[in-house]
Amino acid sequence: MALEVRPATMTRITTPQLARAYIDERIDMLRAQIGDKKVLLALSGGVDSSVVAAMLIRAIGKQLTCVHVNHGLLRKGEPEQVIRVFRGEMDANLIYVDAVDRFLDQLAGVTDPEQKRKIIGKTFIDVFVEEARKLDGISFLGQGTIWPDILESEAGIKAHHNAGGLPDDLRFELVEPVRILFKDEVRVVGRELGLPESMVERQPFPGPGLGVRCPGAITRDRLEAVREADAILREEFAAAGLAGKVWQYFTVVPDFKSTGIRDGKRVFEWPCIIRAVNTTDAMTATVEEIPFALMQKLVSRITAEVRSVNRVLYDFTPKPVATIEWE
Ligand code: XMP
Repeated sequence: MALEVRPATMTRITTPQLARAYIDERIDMLRAQIGDKKVLLALSGGVDSSVVAAMLIRAIGKQLTCVHVNHGLLRKGEPEQVIRVFRGEMDANLIYVDAVDRFLDQLAGVTDPEQKRKIIGKTFIDVFVEEARKLDGISFLGQGTIWPDILESEAGIKAHHNAGGLPDDLRFELVEPVRILFKDEVRVVGRELGLPESMVERQPFPGPGLGVRCPGAITRDRLEAVREADAILREEFAAAGLAGKVWQYFTVVPDFKSTGIRDGKRVFEWPCIIRAVNTTDAMTATVEEIPFALMQKLVSRITAEVRSVNRVLYDFTPKPVATIEWE
């Protein structure tokens, strides 16, 4: 099948009506392409794969098998949400793989950021391939490729990661129902398919997840500190009405400790760094001005609720000279 290209004349999908028309058209196309065959999809819970899953569930129901790999580097509540939404509400065929120990064991003691990324990427493929081999009669692989992925790989900005790394006998035909959409359109379509707002409006999250926010060698306790602090930050940003206004915000817990006082005793604990940036293309980024009262609330909540953190810092550095992530 020829690779699909976004028509130059295509109207930007900005309304529920336009989204419904797109969904109806795609469902017909998906049914024609897939027939009575089976589709496999790696469902991370991010916007793109979630919208692809919801679309395929509507088009072919149980002919779709979703595989959600929990690599232990997801944000708090994410694996549970994937199970609740897709298995609970949409009645999908969902295989949940708890691979937390496997990933963290592979990553133990690894300090180099690129090496960490490679291990996470390779272990993900290994786990996915093992699950795929257990299934019979799969003909298609669903993918959350979107139009900027195509544009960026054509421009040489990023190697398009999708479909990469699968062995020859698992090179299924691709099903890419959001391939010609821009990100904002994917969100409108996802909303129309009934996905929860917290999934559709999710901020960008790197593939290696919290792994790159736990600089140096990842340990379970420091990873847990990043995850808990991140959950508090997201909660407070949402309560302050900043959730949809700041492009990306997260916490980092570096691998060093400083002195503090807790319950009248000297303690030696980690700092937690908050980063909140705005950007249009992630190539450059500016730092958000956070209200001081919100900062104080974050400091008091994070130091009280994350017992291994005794300082909270704010990263004021734009990109460049800093990157958005810390490694
Ligand atoms: P940097 O840190 O390069 O990040 O300024 C720019 C954007 O890319 C995200 N990012 C990644 N996304 N895999 C991903 O899928 C990665 O390895 C990765 N590293 C950074 C980052 O979160 C930001 O949105």
